[in-house]
Amino acid sequence: MNSGNAARGSFGSQLGVILASAGSAVGLGNIWRFPTEVGKGGGAAFILIYLCFIFLFAMPVMISEFVIGRSARSNAIGAFQKLSPGKPWVAAGIMGVLGGFLVLSFYSVVAGWTLHYTIQAALGQLQGLQTADNGQQATDFAAAFNAFVSNPWQPVVYLTLFLLLTHLVVARGIQHGIERYSKLMMPMLLAIIVLLVAFSLTMPGAAEGVSFLLQPDLSEVTPDVVLGAMGQAFFSLSVGLGCLVTYASYFSKETRLVKSAMNVCIIDTMVAVLSGFIIFPTVFSVGIAPDAGPGLVFITLPNVFLLTFSEMPVAGYVFALLFYVLLLLAALTSSISMHEICTAFISEHFSKSRRTAAVIVTIVCLVLGAFCSLSFGPWKDVTLLDRGIFDLFDFTVTKFLMPLGGLMMTLFVGWSLGRSLVERQLTNDGRIPVRTMRPLLFLIRWVAPAGILVIFINELIGIFI
Ligand code: PFF
Repeated sequence: MNSGNAARGSFGSQLGVILASAGSAVGLGNIWRFPTEVGKGGGAAFILIYLCFIFLFAMPVMISEFVIGRSARSNAIGAFQKLSPGKPWVAAGIMGVLGGFLVLSFYSVVAGWTLHYTIQAALGQLQGLQTADNGQQATDFAAAFNAFVSNPWQPVVYLTLFLLLTHLVVARGIQHGIERYSKLMMPMLLAIIVLLVAFSLTMPGAAEGVSFLLQPDLSEVTPDVVLGAMGQAFFSLSVGLGCLVTYASYFSKETRLVKSAMNVCIIDTMVAVLSGFIIFPTVFSVGIAPDAGPGLVFITLPNVFLLTFSEMPVAGYVFALLFYVLLLLAALTSSISMHEICTAFISEHFSKSRRTAAVIVTIVCLVLGAFCSLSFGPWKDVTLLDRGIFDLFDFTVTKFLMPLGGLMMTLFVGWSLGRSLVERQLTNDGRIPVRTMRPLLFLIRWVAPAGILVIFINELIGIFI
């Protein structure tokens, strides 16, 4: 079943390939960012734009990453050095590895908050079932959240714990680490989503939340919303940083690249939409305005859990706990893929063992992550271009590195790699028919790069002018 370089490791099954790649895609981006973007961007109108971007832009980038990774069987930088030695394409790999460090650092801060809230939910503190540290009922969630994130050391402790969890999975390698834990965590994650959707749709007033999510409101669709949809599509599918180049370098000769990419896109989009079905009916059922960003998950939702279930504390306890466990699992399956971009590079480029490389990545991200965390507290005033450290990392990755990386990867596969190599990868050496070959190549060569470029330039104009 397996082929590929045994010393580098490889995925052991097709299911492992799909679940690990979908694990990378499904993350914090789906569960809180997508629903709030939908809310801001005119409900179903945003969903339609987003779907176009997923299938026209982000999926071609994903397929390009798969082609690069499997044909080179190397890390994100090594892949370009192998396929196109001495050419500037390697810049895409360098930006990817740099982006991998940055994204893991700021993502782990929010994942650390999630870990803290999961523990609080498990202890029953979110429902006011127990008294908070100060002896009062823990009901002022905004104050609690702000006090927690601005504390100089507490979030750093959770960030460290989360990074250690990520580290333990990555250090164990592809089959025994990433594949094994993705196969364990992804089914749990999907089962929790189904349970929570069922829960939230049966709440009184849920219909209002559903219609908020599904009614297209074209008046809300501004150029900003369109740009936001593209950023969201890239972030959500983990494309543009070489994460999927790295994963695909462990795919076997039998893995069907186009089919796998379709499956990952479908799973990712389904989880995003279902998360909306968890959050909005619940929020609307207690008459709270949906907030955006961290506030939604760490302030609004605990409030909702408390209000909704004040009469049914046990149901509230279970709902809250399942929700944060869901968020934690989603964050973990994504963070291991970010870690792997950097670990694979350090291990292969500097000829270090996987374990040593993983330790280096964890330590670097711990330090960078601590800086990000401090930017919510004591280092609030340390800014560049009006942005704190956390925002700066987020901005650099999502607004620059991902679109530029995606652009370069589609151009590389479409124009530089050679058509016969690309076709051999897409058809597994001619063994499987790919009926959509011509339109697919058209998307990779023209549609995706042109679309990404237009949106990227627009974004630059918006930022600097
Ligand atoms: N796709 C992940 C999410 O939606 O949360 C985030 C992500 C994972 C971004 C891996 C980039 C990456 F390389």
